[in-house]
Amino acid sequence: MGIIVPVLTLVFLLLTAVSHAASKPRMILVGGSSQSWKVPDSSSNTLNQWAENNRFKVGDILVWKYDAKVDSVLQVTKEDYESCNTSKPLNQYNDGDTKLELDHSGAYFFVSGAPDHCAKGQKMHLVVLAERNVPGGSGSGERGQGDNPKVTPVSPPAKTPAPAPAHNAAGGLNVGSCLFLSAVAIGLAMA
Ligand SMILES: *[C@@H]1O[C@H](CO)[C@@H](O)[C@H](O)[C@H]1NC(C)=O
Repeated sequence: MGIIVPVLTLVFLLLTAVSHAASKPRMILVGGSSQSWKVPDSSSNTLNQWAENNRFKVGDILVWKYDAKVDSVLQVTKEDYESCNTSKPLNQYNDGDTKLELDHSGAYFFVSGAPDHCAKGQKMHLVVLAERNVPGGSGSGERGQGDNPKVTPVSPPAKTPAPAPAHNAAGGLNVGSCLFLSAVAIGLAMA
């Protein structure tokens, strides 16, 4: 049984790590790299292309990196986004390392607060899809996505080395005890 406890402990640690990671919000760097928040080099709207290639969820956190001396991030209405009207933003950020949680589904519109940058194409909009599996919510997704990214629950790996049947263990330790010891070991390790 010398190997069972370490193996089970490892499995438990892995499962703990996985579930922990799943509960953490995603930090998403706008544009995929730092200094992406700028007037696009080409006329193609690269930040919107980037946004279209991403799937945003409620709870995700957008991160903008930029030089706070020359730029800022304004969250605006759809109308102000389209007309590049920066006079009354919904929110404005100018710390150079802006983090914004997507706390509801729907459309978000951002423009640069630097003079003329929005007109030159430094703007981005994105859509956060409604959450699925909302209790009581209608299950009909309005987008008809074929590739529904269902989060499959973490199941124990099928290839886990099967512990010897409990009654074969010389020490009389059964599987339940091993699990318990693993849990205790993890508890001690994390204390
Ligand atoms: C910009 O928006 C403000 C308030 O929303 C409005 O008063 C102003 O007329 C707008 N400016 C332009 C150029 O549309």
